[in-house]
Amino acid sequence: MDKLKITAGRPLAGTVRISGAKNSALPAMAAALLTSGELLLENLPFVNDIFTMRRLLRELGVSVEFEADHAARLCAATIQSHEAPYDLVKTMRASVLVLGPLLARTGRARVSLPGGCAIGARPINLHIKALEKLGAEVRTEHGYVEATAAGLVGSEILFDKITVTGTENLMMAAALAQGRTVLENAAREPEVVDLAELLNKMGAKIEGAGTQTIAIEGVRQLGGTSHRIIPDRIEAGTFLVAAAITGGELVLVDTNPGHLSAVIDKLREAGVSIEASNGKIRVRGQAELKAVDVITKEYPGFATDMQAQYMTLMTQATGTSVITENIFENRFMHASELMRMGASIRLDGSRAIVTGKTRLSGANVIASDLRASASLILAALVAEGSTVIDRVYHLDRGYEKIEDKLRSVGAEIERLK
Ligand code: EPU
Repeated sequence: MDKLKITAGRPLAGTVRISGAKNSALPAMAAALLTSGELLLENLPFVNDIFTMRRLLRELGVSVEFEADHAARLCAATIQSHEAPYDLVKTMRASVLVLGPLLARTGRARVSLPGGCAIGARPINLHIKALEKLGAEVRTEHGYVEATAAGLVGSEILFDKITVTGTENLMMAAALAQGRTVLENAAREPEVVDLAELLNKMGAKIEGAGTQTIAIEGVRQLGGTSHRIIPDRIEAGTFLVAAAITGGELVLVDTNPGHLSAVIDKLREAGVSIEASNGKIRVRGQAELKAVDVITKEYPGFATDMQAQYMTLMTQATGTSVITENIFENRFMHASELMRMGASIRLDGSRAIVTGKTRLSGANVIASDLRASASLILAALVAEGSTVIDRVYHLDRGYEKIEDKLRSVGAEIERLK
């Protein structure tokens, strides 16, 4: 298993290009199942989750060809299998995104239940309940969800809780249903909007994406198109913290500052200097950082996917900050590793109370999930001596070439095979 060795050094300085959004690319790839036409997707991040989705789609009979420069051509001329098997779903929960499109296109889907993971129980009951409202018959047996439908029919769906991939699954299923579907309490994430734009280019009739009410007028069939994936806001946010924590200066290009408003506001409150313009963000760390509380919320609130990185930053801020995790019930696994590096953090249910500024020192630490890995890298950038991070396969799932990107702006980082 690969490890990363990071030795703290000088403030980061330079320019970083932000990759396409993993969480936009995954549903976009799954959308290929909805049509026999060809999808050309551009700005895909070449990360392991995207390769896992490629493997899954190929097993279902979709041809997926990756091209140079982050593009891929996908074509589901015919569907050969209806099953997302356990070994793929357990490596990537987002495999569940094939449920809606498979069911809509072929009337049948069998998807392994994902089970819990390092950040919480993460059930898919809301996806299932909503598909049942469209007329699907859903059985759960032998660890699999098996859905069938003679033809989906539009309906009104009120999500009990906001769910990102649930909203995406339902938009895809409803796009080919008969009649009108209205999703209430829908997720408003930029990735949901990006998927709606792609589906509309394919011929779907979706209105309201980006608001809590999305209306979908079903169509008989969808066709091929080309689409450029939006920039990854979490990767960008991670680099904002990297500049802030090292007291460096970075320019992030190919990014969308509008998708990062909540993060930018928090960092500014904490004393970080940030200038945002079209597609570009300049961030400058300051010697003194101030402790500022944060509560994770659904978009446009502060993203749970930035909570771990923000916690690392707060270990270097003066004062006490309270970080409240509202989306997942168990997303503080990084806290104990940060404490092993010298951070002062007290956990109290869904709250982490961080007192800073503490001197961090390099140690051997273990990454428990994707964003936890990022938070440990950030800590290592300022910890005295060297840090070795184990289980970096989590990181490889979602950050494209993070070592190369960090090294190019001055970090001392190497991969131990
Ligand atoms: N939930 C349910 N039932 C459901 C669905 C969700 O109870 O049927 C609960 C979840 O357990 C959680 C909350 O609702 O407590 C929100 O979960 P959501 O469904 O929105 O999460 P997701 O769609 O599984 C996506 C991202 C995650 C990100 C969350 C929240 C993708 C592929 N994944 O997950 O990204 O944290 O939204 O914004 O889009 C990551 O990239 O590191 C990552 C974990």
